[in-house]
Amino acid sequence: MLKKSKAKKEYKEKIKQYKKFSKHYFEDNAPIVSDHDFDFLKKEILDLEKKFGFTDKDSPSKTLGFKPSKNFKKYPHRVKMLSLANAFNEEDLINFEKKIVNFLNLNKNFEFEYSAEPKIDGISASITYKSGKLIRGLSRGNGDEGEDITPNLKTISDIPHYVDHKDFPDEIDIRGEVFIQNNDFEKMKDSFANPRNAASGSLRQKDPKKTSIIPLKFVAYTFGFSSDQTMDKQTNFLIKLKKWGFKTSELNKKIIGIKNLLTNHQNIEKKRFELNYDIDGIVYKVNDFELQKRLGFVTNAPRWAIAHKFSASKSVTEILNIDIQVGRTGALTPVAKVKPVNIGGVVVSNATLHNEEEILRKDIRIGDTVKIERAGDVIPHVISVDLSKRKKESKKFIFPSNCPSCGSKTIKEFNSQTKKYDAIRRCTSEGFKCEKISIEKIKHFVSKDALNIDGFGKKIVQNFWDIGLIKQPQDIFNLDFERISNLDGWGSLSVDNLKKSIQKSKNISLDKFIFSLGIRHIGQENAKLLSEFLKIKENFFRLKNKNYIEELIDIDGIGETQLNSLKMFFNEKINLDVISNLSQSLNIQNFKEKNSRGKLKGQVFMFTGKLSNISRAEAKSLIENNGGKIVSNVTNKLDYLVIGEKPTSKKVDLAKKNKIKVIDQKTLEKMLN
Ligand code: IVH
Repeated sequence: MLKKSKAKKEYKEKIKQYKKFSKHYFEDNAPIVSDHDFDFLKKEILDLEKKFGFTDKDSPSKTLGFKPSKNFKKYPHRVKMLSLANAFNEEDLINFEKKIVNFLNLNKNFEFEYSAEPKIDGISASITYKSGKLIRGLSRGNGDEGEDITPNLKTISDIPHYVDHKDFPDEIDIRGEVFIQNNDFEKMKDSFANPRNAASGSLRQKDPKKTSIIPLKFVAYTFGFSSDQTMDKQTNFLIKLKKWGFKTSELNKKIIGIKNLLTNHQNIEKKRFELNYDIDGIVYKVNDFELQKRLGFVTNAPRWAIAHKFSASKSVTEILNIDIQVGRTGALTPVAKVKPVNIGGVVVSNATLHNEEEILRKDIRIGDTVKIERAGDVIPHVISVDLSKRKKESKKFIFPSNCPSCGSKTIKEFNSQTKKYDAIRRCTSEGFKCEKISIEKIKHFVSKDALNIDGFGKKIVQNFWDIGLIKQPQDIFNLDFERISNLDGWGSLSVDNLKKSIQKSKNISLDKFIFSLGIRHIGQENAKLLSEFLKIKENFFRLKNKNYIEELIDIDGIGETQLNSLKMFFNEKINLDVISNLSQSLNIQNFKEKNSRGKLKGQVFMFTGKLSNISRAEAKSLIENNGGKIVSNVTNKLDYLVIGEKPTSKKVDLAKKNKIKVIDQKTLEKMLN
């Protein structure tokens, strides 16, 4: 019989081989041995384990080869897949409702009817049916395009391949959540941290046979594109889904008013752990589709829905150290490195301490025993210190007064609106002089909503930075691939993929380009406003001109704060060099008018005075949805000044003097039909 020591050596050798084969098979999508040899090797390993009791973290018994593939084909979503804003308490819900009441200009006491649906913690998918036949299934991806995982989704028995029903729309994307039940997860606990990871991992297998081994479930809750425009309410749509043969949650409810939402939330939260699947909150959707349409969405989330999260899981641990992280905009954030603890299926080793004041107020010190809390996918935070466990030798934590990365002075800015100093301390270095800020800027530059360079994650940015491959964003377009292919963990296939995704990212819209620069206060929405106003990249570069940049104040939505931040940016030579270098590598596309067929195409509007029956925000979004534009100052670009109740006479006079058409709300409504 094989001696144990010799067997061990053989076992380790086989594991090494298995790891190599798996990488080629699962990650690179390019097997280097036949399936038969691969299976045979697995069997040999499992036999040795059975006989001698060996284990290894890379064994097929542990990993099952469930390494998700990165190589799915991308496919655009016809209707963007949105995410949801979060609410944690009654106050958040009241604010949510206040905002939509204002937007719709409804009576303060208006009570909304909601569809309240449990938020299953899984992976969302969008499944397209044409003439009743399932033709494609996509993952969420970045919301604009997903991965084509049709064969994998087809293995899920809750997903019908055909729907034969007379009122099933001729063409529709059915959307819902793919998840794994807790009892099924129990069997594969060793391979995945939590059920959500298990569902995600198994859904993204290259080989759908592997997906079919795991009993995945699907619950439907919404639609993307639909050829049927006659549906009226979300709760009625849910009833239809069920009729058409889809599973829907048995906990879905129609609810009126915040008080009742809260009662339902409490009831379900209590039952939460009796369920056979994880839910992390309740989603509330304004039930009426007409109102949903009027409310629309902001960047990535609808105005008409919110996720009311369940209270977080808590745990006790010890602070090992306090790190000061420097963010992209120079903000210094203290982060506690804690002794790793498992909170609700996730191993936590970092907790945010928010800012300097928070540390002072709670007197948080290195070595302290603390209670930490994790809610949903946000970074855990420290709730309280257990003073009875404080060590005698412990010292107060002193927050650094200089930037720990570049040594520059740090300041707390004075906020002219709140008349208070900011709680956040910032590094005053602008441009790429501070190392930590630069790294964060590059991470932002490659991220999903910016250049969206696939496979270029935060770790890779750090790694390339550390070895001197990149120092500024434009270095990404002059990478030394020869050197990269010699780095640990990089094969010719992964280098090739990186090249391809960098190449692909070069075509970029003006607004994404502006956003990608990571200028403080210029998020996605503001970048869109700027690009709409500037139209071509040359105008963006012209902002270095001190007179020209002042014109931005005419944009409705751009205020002093944004303008000052842009001025600081354009004041710094290094920033000008970066954008000029980037413009050579990138193909920055001019702003495309969204609604070229809109009734108000190219027309510029401004409001003064109060409108009746409709809020400013809704009027604005109506005009924009019809191709028009809003500004906040009377300039020669203005076509119409819309006057409501009690207009500012100065504005009206100025408009008249400049021969700008002054119209009332009725006329605007007529123009909009
Ligand atoms: S509706 C309206 N309904 O939550 C846009 N989403 O944070 C959101 N989710 O990606 C889709 N249950 O994965 C909707 N009943 C439900 C949901 C739900 C879970 C997930 C979904 C989405 C995420 C948004």
